[in-house]
Amino acid sequence: MGAPEEQLPSVGPEDAEQPLYDPEILTKLDWSKVTHMKNGVTSATPGEGLRIRPLCKADFDRGFLQLLGQLTKVGDISRSKFNERFDQMKGCPGHYYVTVIEDVHLGQIVGSATLACELKFIRECTKRGRLEDVIVSNEYRGKQLGKLIVTTILLLAQQVGCYKLGLDCKDEMKPFYSSVGFASEKGNDNTMIIRF
Ligand SMILES: CC(C)(COP(=O)(O)OP(=O)(O)OC[C@H]1O[C@@H](n2cnc3c(N)ncnc32)[C@H](O)[C@@H]1OP(=O)(O)O)[C@@H](O)C(=O)NCCC(=O)NCCS
Repeated sequence: MGAPEEQLPSVGPEDAEQPLYDPEILTKLDWSKVTHMKNGVTSATPGEGLRIRPLCKADFDRGFLQLLGQLTKVGDISRSKFNERFDQMKGCPGHYYVTVIEDVHLGQIVGSATLACELKFIRECTKRGRLEDVIVSNEYRGKQLGKLIVTTILLLAQQVGCYKLGLDCKDEMKPFYSSVGFASEKGNDNTMIIRF
């Protein structure tokens, strides 16, 4: 009898490190106009022992889902279900940019945010970006990593051609997002939702 399916890596080590999207894009981000980060921190220089990169399958073992669990209910996700969702995202190039901060010494994911791109007919077939699932691990908060991952997504959205980037957040989070440049627009400040 083999081990239960959950415990078996369903991919080889090389495949497990394959990025969700081309990491080259991150090297092209234009940080020259960013003034809100202290000490020259950028996605290329996130701080000692830290790395910003696209999600990969091996992040299942680096606490990625546990990190998301600090944001919201994640549920019980098996490795195969995780891999299947990863493959679905990767199979839609240009749409899902799940981006993580790794503590390379610990081999742990300590921050994450996602750029989701929506294709439009309006504005001559433009793209709209959505900032989703912003999270920094408890022990790493208050060190600019939140600003860093959000600014990375913001620049990424520009880099891939989004005409705007939106987000939903609680009232209490508005100062945080304002600090990196987001603003409510007069007369256009309503998020309406039906939950199913
Ligand atoms: C929000 C979050 C990502 C911020 O990460 P962080 O690494 O602590 O943030 P930073 O260190 O970059 O802080 C940036 C600024 O935002 C402020 N800030 C951080 N968290 C805040 C919060 N919850 N409410 C209000 N302001 C906040 C900080 O005081 C800091 O202000 P300063 O630049 O004047 O000092 C982090 O607190 C987190 O993961 N929270 C739980 C998940 C969450 O709420 N995600 C957002 C969902 S919309």
